[in-house]
Amino acid sequence: MALLSNPLFRLKSFGQRPRRLLVFISIILVLFLACESKPPPEITDPGQLLFLGYAKQDVNCSKCHGADGQGGMDAPDIRNAFQKYGKGEIMNIIEYGKGEGPDAMPPFEGKISEEELLELVIFLETLQRSSSDSQVEN
Ligand code: HEC
Repeated sequence: MALLSNPLFRLKSFGQRPRRLLVFISIILVLFLACESKPPPEITDPGQLLFLGYAKQDVNCSKCHGADGQGGMDAPDIRNAFQKYGKGEIMNIIEYGKGEGPDAMPPFEGKISEEELLELVIFLETLQRSSSDSQVEN
């Protein structure tokens, strides 16, 4: 919207040149389609792709937990989850959710397969390791 209110893009000037408006709209459309949930090529870990919301439309952990599991958006930091829970407990949390009310963790049962659940847990473990690595550095 800020772009449209920019005098450079005032619609009035497009009104006089309808073809330019068409070109402008096409460019925006192409940019929009190009941005549409394509993972960066360096991300190949299936668990990370799930976590970031690239692999499945209704699975996106990062929108609540942050791209690195650092927490935020009313969801806790999960980089220390393996200090609190065993692997099975973490799988249960993902499958059945945790907590109650509007601030609860939603269940993913039925949205992910058993294999995807494992891929997620393996990815969560790598988050865990890298955060304890950085704690050593601090
Ligand atoms: C809609 C937001 C939301 C989404 C999406 C979400 N979570 Fe959560 N998650 C939460 C909240 C809120 C909690 C804390 C619940 C509580 O303790 O009451 C939580 C808790 C957790 C915990 C336990 C953390 C702890 O220390 O107790 C783990 C592990 C976890 N989530 C992993 C995941 C994974 C993996 C995904 C993706 C499959 C995911 N979450 C998706 C909101 C979310």
